[in-house]
Amino acid sequence: MPEETLLETSAAEYERKLAARDKTIEVLKRRIAQEARPGNATPFAILEQNMGLEKVVARKTLELQNERHELEKALAELRLTQAQLLQAQKMESIGQLAAGIAHEINTPTQYVCDNVGFVKTATVALITLLDAALALAEVARGKMAAEPVVAEFDAVIKRTKVEFLRHQIPSALDESLEGLGHIAKIVGAMKEFSHPAQSEKEWVDVREVINTTVTVARNEWKYVAELETHFEDNLPQLPCLRDILGQVILNLVVNAAHAIADTIKEGVKEKGRIIVSAAQNGAYMEIRVEDDGGGIPVGIRDRIFEPFFTTKAVGKGTGQGLAIVYSTVVDKHDGQIRCESQEGVGTTFIMQLPLHCDKEEEPACK
Ligand SMILES: Nc1ncnc2c1ncn2[C@@H]1O[C@H](COP(=O)(O)OP(=O)(O)O)[C@@H](O)[C@H]1O
Ligand SMILES: [Mg+2]
Repeated sequence: MPEETLLETSAAEYERKLAARDKTIEVLKRRIAQEARPGNATPFAILEQNMGLEKVVARKTLELQNERHELEKALAELRLTQAQLLQAQKMESIGQLAAGIAHEINTPTQYVCDNVGFVKTATVALITLLDAALALAEVARGKMAAEPVVAEFDAVIKRTKVEFLRHQIPSALDESLEGLGHIAKIVGAMKEFSHPAQSEKEWVDVREVINTTVTVARNEWKYVAELETHFEDNLPQLPCLRDILGQVILNLVVNAAHAIADTIKEGVKEKGRIIVSAAQNGAYMEIRVEDDGGGIPVGIRDRIFEPFFTTKAVGKGTGQGLAIVYSTVVDKHDGQIRCESQEGVGTTFIMQLPLHCDKEEEPACK
């Protein structure tokens, strides 16, 4: 076939195809127009289709919302774990620092204590000697008043304000010994806090530990609060270091009493309430110490477990109480401690101690 004829055939073919397509388009247009007419059944189909689509969209949205919720929860948990980790690291380094300081202060405190004790005993002897000398001077004044040594003795007595010193020196020494005793107690607590106790864990009845502790500490709370203990029935035994668990409860009860005492001083109430309770919570023993004191201000809540952190007056607070609580619960018992507090309402410390020992500790626990 010549080239021109070939071209003509193809063009005709294309024209035919084009016309066919136009026709199809025309038919489709007509059908759409017909379907869009009111009263026609087909728009319902479209509506149904749309509704189906809406349902799919709603389902997808819900799924996405759930996923988002899960992610938010995971993020919050992650943040909490991170904060706990940071807190644990901080406590560890502060603990090491405290151990070093405790060691450094311990030795000088010991010999200052010994020396002040010695000076106190010596002072008692010297005062006896002074009394004898004063009696002698009295006699001398009557018998040999003209002697210059008598006048000189009287002048020295006047200059040195003997009477004043005789009364002030013993009380100054007593106060110093009391202060030194206080320092020794803090240092001892710090050492206890930074060096894990060597004693072994034993199975104890927490009710007994709590009852003994609150009885021993009665003097600390009886003037400011009523104290109740609540124990769940059939409490299991707890593997723990009995003595320091008692110390932990004591520290928390004393803090509760102090917090209530402050509100009483402010005239908020006449007497408060402390509740110490124990209950099993899954694999843990949960011990709570609750008070209706003034609460812990939000601004200091993440500092309360630090050694030396105190808001109390010198002599009343050492800032060691909660540090000991933390190290006992977290480091020595692998437990957890948290505090819920509301200003003007009160504070609850919640400890969770594992009811099972670590494998290597197992024999000691039996
Ligand atoms: N139950 C409580 N209510 C209010 N504040 C508390 C309570 N327990 C502890 N705190 C706060 O935490 C601080 C640290 O407590 P702690 O370590 O026992 O040291 P201290 O009692 O010697 O001050 C306290 O000074 C106080 O501000
Ligand atoms: Mg305290």
